[in-house]
Amino acid sequence: MSEPKALIRPDRGEAAIAIHLVNKDGFEAFAKRLTAGQRAALAAQKFEGGGYQIGIVPDGDSWFAVSGVANPESLSSWCLAKLAEELPEGTYRLADGDPGAAMFGWITGQYRFNRYRSEDKAQGPRILLTTQVGPIDAVTAEAEAECLVRDLVNMPAEDMGPAALEAECERLAKAHKAELTVVRGDALEQGYPMVHAVGRAAARHHAPRLMHLTWGDPKHPVLALVGKGVCFDSGGLDIKPSAGMRLMKKDMGGAAHALALAGLIMAARMKVRLHLLIPAVENAISGGAFRPGDVLKSRKGLTIEIHNTDAEGRLILGDALTRASEESPDLIVDFATLTGAARVALGPDLPAMMARKDETADAFLAAGKANDDAAWRLPLPEAYREYLASDVADMANASQNPFAGASVAGLFLDRFVGEGLDWVHFDTFAWNPNPRPGRARGGRGLGLRAAYHAIRARYGA
Ligand code: BES
Ligand code: ZN
Ligand code: ZN
Repeated sequence: MSEPKALIRPDRGEAAIAIHLVNKDGFEAFAKRLTAGQRAALAAQKFEGGGYQIGIVPDGDSWFAVSGVANPESLSSWCLAKLAEELPEGTYRLADGDPGAAMFGWITGQYRFNRYRSEDKAQGPRILLTTQVGPIDAVTAEAEAECLVRDLVNMPAEDMGPAALEAECERLAKAHKAELTVVRGDALEQGYPMVHAVGRAAARHHAPRLMHLTWGDPKHPVLALVGKGVCFDSGGLDIKPSAGMRLMKKDMGGAAHALALAGLIMAARMKVRLHLLIPAVENAISGGAFRPGDVLKSRKGLTIEIHNTDAEGRLILGDALTRASEESPDLIVDFATLTGAARVALGPDLPAMMARKDETADAFLAAGKANDDAAWRLPLPEAYREYLASDVADMANASQNPFAGASVAGLFLDRFVGEGLDWVHFDTFAWNPNPRPGRARGGRGLGLRAAYHAIRARYGA
């Protein structure tokens, strides 16, 4: 696709094709203003003003487009996405009003992952003009962040291993003049023993590491972002069946979210001291792999008995959350493709969100709702802590029963978040299995804009 930024431009009155938005109720009135020929053209296209319907209307030597939306006065993120996908290359403007939130879908509707096609299937850009007051950059930045999440998730694991995630962090640090430290090898084994244990079976060129990016005035409140960077999850020795393994290149989706969110926060120059922590590993199988029954020592000092090597995300996040907590942060937010149980509960479109404080949870839920990126809260029930009891160590990494898997994973993480700290956990899918306008099949941000807007409301730009 074209650069997201290039798809929206300030309207300086240049020639552009008009887009009229109607709904079923308003369509009759709209049609009355058309010529008989134009009405016949729309009838031939079976255009009736229904959602996502598109009509092309001849107009002298030119033409304009009409599309159905639920409410032309208040556009959602996706209202223009199908138009952006289906209209020919060119420059467009809305006949009435401003696109607002729909700019997000205009851009993401043109997202394609064509990196691995021999033939360049890219279509020419469809550019939307806007008279919106205020910086267009603020909206396009969110769409750009979404496209980044998709790109990182869609990349095959061989090309998006720990080293490639490190390169992404480096690119981000350069772009915003942030500092980046990468911990590997012996230092990783010492400082982040669970990250090392999970990642140590991978081939040398996919060696585990932890990226730690810092940015912003140290006098500002500390915001820590943590993302699960399992670049491929085979399950380890508790190997996944093939259907369960097929999509596991996306198991670094949490890292992609955290990274993209960090970029948005730095671009908006929010008043925070930012810490981005990304543990990056491949959960691979070899003679050196960690085993069921092994006991790992964590950064925090707690010992963890491994019941299941496929519950690896919580292990690497445990050490990263411990490190984040050492900064006495005002808020910790983590993203992880952590459990199948969250998907069983909520399906692919709703990320599960867990939080210690109700006010913080409410702020994140409200921000999600207001920005077409809703999440659903799941609890962290004290009573289920005992599911993680171990006979030999301080704690086990998985429960022996099938109940409340997403909450139990959340409770595991909770043990590594410093006492009393404000913490939000997103168990996200990072993938869209059913394509819809603006949401191609493949990698997808879920919870990204919810978190961004909640954080922006909390700290200001
Ligand atoms: N990456 C998976 C979770 C996952 C699976 C996310 C499918 C999205 C779709 C994670 O590492 C995992 O395998 N979790 C196990 C935990 C279990 C062994 C306690 C799970 O959810 O089955
Ligand atoms: Zn796993
Ligand atoms: Zn995993």
